[in-house]
Amino acid sequence: MMANFTVHVLGCLMLTYLCYGSMEEIVGELQRELQQLKMKTAHYENEIQTLKTSSATEIMLLKEEISALKADSINNSEALKRRFVLGTNSFAEKPAFSASLYNHATGLGNNQAIIFDNIFTNDLSGYSSSTGVFTAPINGTYFFTATVMSHTGEYLETEICLNGVSLVHMYSYDTHFEQGTNSVVLVLKSGDKVWVRHYNTQGSKAYGYHWSSFTGFMI
Ligand SMILES: *[C@@H]1O[C@H](CO)[C@@H](O)[C@H](O)[C@H]1NC(C)=O
Ligand SMILES: *[C@@H]1O[C@H](CO)[C@@H](O)[C@H](O)[C@H]1NC(C)=O
Repeated sequence: MMANFTVHVLGCLMLTYLCYGSMEEIVGELQRELQQLKMKTAHYENEIQTLKTSSATEIMLLKEEISALKADSINNSEALKRRFVLGTNSFAEKPAFSASLYNHATGLGNNQAIIFDNIFTNDLSGYSSSTGVFTAPINGTYFFTATVMSHTGEYLETEICLNGVSLVHMYSYDTHFEQGTNSVVLVLKSGDKVWVRHYNTQGSKAYGYHWSSFTGFMI
C-alpha cells in the first residue's frame, strides 16, 4: 500500500515536470515559428512592393507602346484612306507620267522649260503638256529620267530641276544629233514641281519626233 502510494506520487511529480518541460518547449517552438513567420511576411511584403513597382513600370511602358502603335495605325489608315478611291473600291494608281517631244523645241532661252508635248501616260494627272512641269499629286519618293537630243551643228545643255533648283544636267554634243540623258530619285511632298529646262546659254533647240522624252513615277 505504501509502495503504491509512493509510486503514484512520484508518477505525478514526473508528469508535472514533464508537462511543464514540454510547455516551455512548445512556447519556445511557437516563438521560433512566430519569428520565422514574421520574417517570411516581411520578405513577402518586400516582394509585393517590388512586383508593384515593376508592374507599374511595365504597365506604363505598355501604355506608351500602345499609344505609339495607335498613332502609327491612325497615320497608316489616313494615308491609305487618301489613296482609296470611293466607288471603285480600289486604291488609286501611283502617279506616273511619260511624255515625248514631238514638235522640236526651238528658240530656247536660258532656263526655259522644255515642253514635252506628247503624253503617253499621266496617271493622277501630275504632268502638264502645256507647261512641261510635273507637280507631285501626293507625298512620296519619285524616280525621274529625261533624254534630250540636240540638233546637228548645235550642242545643247539641259537639266532636271526641282522647284527651280538645278539637280542633274544633260549634255548633247553638236557634231551629230546626240542624246544627253540623266536620272534622279527625289522625296517629294505634294505640290513640289519637277521639270526639264534649258541650262546655261548653250544651244537653243531640242529635237522632237520622239527623240527626246521626260518620264517620272512614284516608286
Ligand atoms: C503621324 O503623323 C503626324 C502628322 O503628320 C506626325 O506628327 C506623327 O509623328 C506621325 N506619327 C507616327 C507614329 O508616325
Ligand atoms: C506631306 O508631307 C508634308 C511634309 O513632309 C507634311 O507636312 C504633310 O502633312 C504631308 N501630307 C500628307 C497628305 O501626308
